[in-house]
Amino acid sequence: MKTAIVYVSNHGATEQVARELSAKLHNSAVDLINLRENKTFSPDGYDCLVVGGSIHAGKIQRRIKDFCMNHTADLLRMKLGLFVCCMHTGEQAVEQFNQNFPELLRHHAATTKIVGGAFNFEKMNWFEKMIVRKVAGVTQSTSNINQEAIEAMASELTQS
Ligand SMILES: Cc1cc2nc3c(=O)[nH]c(=O)nc-3n(C[C@H](O)[C@H](O)[C@H](O)COP(=O)(O)O)c2cc1C
Repeated sequence: MKTAIVYVSNHGATEQVARELSAKLHNSAVDLINLRENKTFSPDGYDCLVVGGSIHAGKIQRRIKDFCMNHTADLLRMKLGLFVCCMHTGEQAVEQFNQNFPELLRHHAATTKIVGGAFNFEKMNWFEKMIVRKVAGVTQSTSNINQEAIEAMASELTQS
């Protein structure tokens, strides 16, 4: 079994989730693919693909959107996992998830997860800090990454 975890991370939270997930996929060789560094990645040769990004102002990274669009046919042939990092929870988070991954892929996926997120002030620019202070009312770094969701994603990928 060969798995690629394909991700984009603005401030490190999605990357952390990708790494933690990769360490839990014991039945598979796993490659971590940062789409900002590997712009020509192809899913050829993999049995399983996990695609993850983070939500900023309601949207997932453009590279994740483009990757899903350009590789829909391949992804529909493989075991697939989809996840987002975000700070909203509950229905708002589900709505963001549904708006940012195509319906076809969501229905095909063996696992879909909202894995929480983190505000990392050390890595934000001044504008991002201002938005987070104003909109979320948060003034310092905080992490809300959901370990149970990562564990569940790993177990669903391993079993199905
Ligand atoms: C400028 C900014 C805008 C954000 N907008 C949203 C949002 O619209 N909805 C949400 O749920 N989380 C939002 N977040 C929270 C991020 O999704 C969260 O910090 C995530 O963990 C970032 O992951 P990353 O470090 O991999 O980029 C925002 C964060 C920042 C810094």
